[in-house]
Amino acid sequence: MKLAVIVGSTRPNRQTLKQAKWVVNNAKLIDGIEAELVDLADYPMPFFDEPMSPRYNPNREIDPAVQKWLTALNGFEAYVFVTPEYNHSITAVLKNSLDYVTTELNRKPSAIVSHGSVGGARAAVALREILAESRSVVIPNVVAFLGLMDGVDDDGNASEAVKANPYGPEAALKGTLSELKWYSDALTKARTQDS
Ligand SMILES: Cc1cc2nc3c(=O)[nH]c(=O)nc-3n(C[C@H](O)[C@H](O)[C@H](O)COP(=O)(O)O)c2cc1C
Repeated sequence: MKLAVIVGSTRPNRQTLKQAKWVVNNAKLIDGIEAELVDLADYPMPFFDEPMSPRYNPNREIDPAVQKWLTALNGFEAYVFVTPEYNHSITAVLKNSLDYVTTELNRKPSAIVSHGSVGGARAAVALREILAESRSVVIPNVVAFLGLMDGVDDDGNASEAVKANPYGPEAALKGTLSELKWYSDALTKARTQDS
């Protein structure tokens, strides 16, 4: 499974970067997962300003910066969106990046990993709806890290306390990644049979 782990915030000193590294580190422990960090900070794009909904625009002219993002997104079979909660929703930069999507996520699975004072739960709920409209198959599992990412270091390694908690976020993450792989294998096979 070719997995993109998408960093959903771009500000300096962001917590989301280490949470995304934590996802990549855990993904690399699972056989058959090829995980890559995809940082929105590396894909600066204008605020969405196309004259029509991209999905219904046969004459779409795509900004080169946006095309770079869409091409990168298209190259993966599965996605983990790592998001903080900003004002009870996802970041503007993540929403903007998804407003450009047409077929890139079609019939491919995604999982949501969030953090915040209530685990980023409200952002995760909002993102689930957005990804559904983006035609991704959002899997049922969630990983919600309560508060800031104090239990994870800058390289994405969880503390011993986080690791030892059988009901904690790392246990949830491992289960989510295994489940994502199941969906990815099933959907990749189905998409191949279709074509
Ligand atoms: C503009 C802004 C709005 C925020 N709103 C919320 C919020 O609604 N709920 C919450 O739990 N945390 C909120 N926070 C706290 C963030 O979840 C926390 O700062 C987190 O580290 C942000 O992710 P980042 O460090 O990757 O930017 C907000 C932070 C910012 C900067």
